[in-house]
Amino acid sequence: MENLDHRDQEKIAGRRILAVTEEELQRIILDIHDGPVQDLFAALSQVNLLQQQIAHSHDPECDARSSRLAGIAALLEESLNEIRTFLGAFRPPEFAKRDLLSVLRGLIIQNESMTGNTVEFQVTEPVPQVSLPVKIALYRILQEALSNGYRHAGVKEQRVRVWTEGADLCLEVSDRGVGFNPPPLVGPTATERVEHIGLRGMRDRVALVSGTFDLWSQPGEGTRITVKVPYHDG
Ligand SMILES: Nc1ncnc2c1ncn2[C@@H]1O[C@H](COP(=O)(O)OP(=O)(O)OP(=O)(O)O)[C@@H](O)[C@H]1O
Ligand SMILES: [Mg+2]
Repeated sequence: MENLDHRDQEKIAGRRILAVTEEELQRIILDIHDGPVQDLFAALSQVNLLQQQIAHSHDPECDARSSRLAGIAALLEESLNEIRTFLGAFRPPEFAKRDLLSVLRGLIIQNESMTGNTVEFQVTEPVPQVSLPVKIALYRILQEALSNGYRHAGVKEQRVRVWTEGADLCLEVSDRGVGFNPPPLVGPTATERVEHIGLRGMRDRVALVSGTFDLWSQPGEGTRITVKVPYHDG
């Protein structure tokens, strides 16, 4: 470490944080899967069992109880489905084995089938090999940007572009939706508001791989995020 200058040390520390964040995310997913999800399953089985027992009894209050149980079962099933969708969206692809385009394309296809939206994917070849931290950062940024477009833009189409510019690999995600007044993400007035976690997360992930993050949006005009990351940087 002594021979490294300050910027190199910062870069190494940043990459470590990125890998740890990804690892922690996977641990949280596993904990949710092995803990609350299993408990919900167990609760649902108990409810189903009670429903069967009640169906066979001749108690006059049966109908009221069985419809209440059906309500509980429906709530439990809905929770399980929601958690499964969430866990599925955050399960990582095999980052190390697959190249950047393959993981991005996989995410787009998954997004289209989950949301019913159409994502136009434009790639200007050739796309260079990138390091694992860059691949993970771009994947998570695309995930958040597509999710924002789906949840907030109010349109059925989104566009993703990938191209190179000098020594930078560029990713752009845009929509022609409702747009908004973007908060400042850099400088002394940069937003710290809790409702901007997704935007700040994209900005921070880009910074960790020494890239730049640009957010453009205007009410009624749509939204565009542009990420530029040096690709032969480690
Ligand atoms: N593509 C978009 N179109 C319209 N509005 C957007 C778009 N992306 C972001 N926004 C606006 O910016 C706000 C902040 O986005 P951000 O991703 O930080 O938070 P969020 O999506 O509301 O919640 P989270 O990402 O934490 O689940 C959104 O609530 C929305 O108002
Ligand atoms: Mg968001």
